[in-house]
Amino acid sequence: MSNIKIAILGMGNVGTGVYQILQENNEEIYKYLNGDIEVEKILVRTIDKKRKISIPNELLTNNYDDILSDESIKIVVELMGGIHPALDYIKRAIKSGKHVVTANKAVMATYGKELKGLAKENGVFINYEASVGGGIPIINTLMESLAANKIEEIIGIINGTTNYILTQMTNYNMSFEEALKLAQTNGYAEADPTSDIEGEDAAFKISILTSIAYGINIPSKAIEREGITKIHKSDIDYASELGYKIKLLAVSKRCKDNIEIYVYPSLVPNEHPLASISNEFNALFVRGNAVGELLLYGKGAGSLPTGSAVLADILSVARLIKNNIGNDKNKNDKFNDIQIKGIG
Ligand code: NDP
Ligand code: HSE
Repeated sequence: MSNIKIAILGMGNVGTGVYQILQENNEEIYKYLNGDIEVEKILVRTIDKKRKISIPNELLTNNYDDILSDESIKIVVELMGGIHPALDYIKRAIKSGKHVVTANKAVMATYGKELKGLAKENGVFINYEASVGGGIPIINTLMESLAANKIEEIIGIINGTTNYILTQMTNYNMSFEEALKLAQTNGYAEADPTSDIEGEDAAFKISILTSIAYGINIPSKAIEREGITKIHKSDIDYASELGYKIKLLAVSKRCKDNIEIYVYPSLVPNEHPLASISNEFNALFVRGNAVGELLLYGKGAGSLPTGSAVLADILSVARLIKNNIGNDKNKNDKFNDIQIKGIG
């Protein structure tokens, strides 16, 4: 029995969820791993900030070198958000031979291919399940469970904040501003919620799914998108009179030799399953040529659901480390086979 030591970069909404799950579900984790996950260091901006849960002070640091220089730390879990300095920190972790788990859709949509290449060169893994769909295991589903399929179509509600706002405006007559404030209080929104409400966050996510499903990297900036800032209560009421709900949909479809990809507020008929997806919940319709249609549904944002996806990544890397896979790039024939699956 041996434990795996990790460092967490960021102790906000998601970091807190990860830490809490590690405390509360340690029996389940131990059973899976035949060992524990030990948090060795936590990087934050402000050490003496009041936090939602109690964290031993000696774990906190604001010096990233403390983490890089600690050879006992095998996995760096990036939960800070934004491109800078997260991208640089991820690269430095990989170059130091540490595996990386991240929930950062901005980084993975923009620099995912480069980071996967760098990880492969350095004999480490980079996993990013939580970057799309919060607690829904969509990345693992596409990479593993549907590996024998040609994916034909993905249609999803993949932003929890906007779905929460639209639900509150539709069902409870709440104003856009009030609903956004509540989404922020509940920990669903990005640090800068413009990314959510202008459709950028959903564009990052559909870009990531497209790269996995079709092996094509479409930069999120090239994706046609519109958010929900132009949706008024009168639009919602009018849609409702006609038997529709307004939902922010992200779509990626294979059409002959092209991929059609966009993010738009759309009219969804009331009887369609996506119409009933409310609040911070996300749902993804996936059509594969062998499996047919699948619908995945669950909490797309929030501390614990997202923490669950991050832990799934940590545990899968930890198990590989314990089985001596991905510990030494020169000695692992199995490493390339496993890593290659994630390359879009
Ligand atoms: P928060 O803003 O709640 O937390 C960010 C944390 O990172 C804070 O603890 C902050 O420190 C720390 N941090 C930020 N910048 C730095 C820096 N330069 N140096 C050191 N520490 C830093 O973000 P979330 O937890 O909501 O999101 C984290 C990531 O997870 C993002 O990539 C987001 O897109 C992704 N995500 C979020 C989901 C959600 O539901 N919230 C769901 C799925 C993915 P301090 O506390 O000291 O300020
Ligand atoms: N801000 C994101 C959302 C978090 O609301 O969906 C989950 O990725």
